[in-house]
Amino acid sequence: MAKLTIVKRDGTETEIEGQNGLSVMEIIRDAGFDEMLALCGGCCSCATCHVHVDAAFADKIEPMSEDENDLLDSSSHRNAESRLSCQVHFSDALDGLRIRIADED
Ligand code: FES
Repeated sequence: MAKLTIVKRDGTETEIEGQNGLSVMEIIRDAGFDEMLALCGGCCSCATCHVHVDAAFADKIEPMSEDENDLLDSSSHRNAESRLSCQVHFSDALDGLRIRIADED
């Protein structure tokens, strides 16, 4: 199974297995990271699943929708690597993906 590395806000890193087809948010939540609030459950309406995705994977993940872009604009921690993790679906092609949970707004 393909793996991804999750970097918590305190900098600690954990490698976990990712299931094909699940969103990165679901994988992080199911792995028990309580920093990931994901309050809307993946409906793209809360931005509490904000993460920073390693730039090396930028061209391998699905493009951002207008709704996701608008929601990310509400975060003061947005940068070029920002994504809402509920909008990024995992697959074997993303093996080695590195995700940092964004600071809370
Ligand atoms: S879980 Fe709410 S926007 Fe992703």
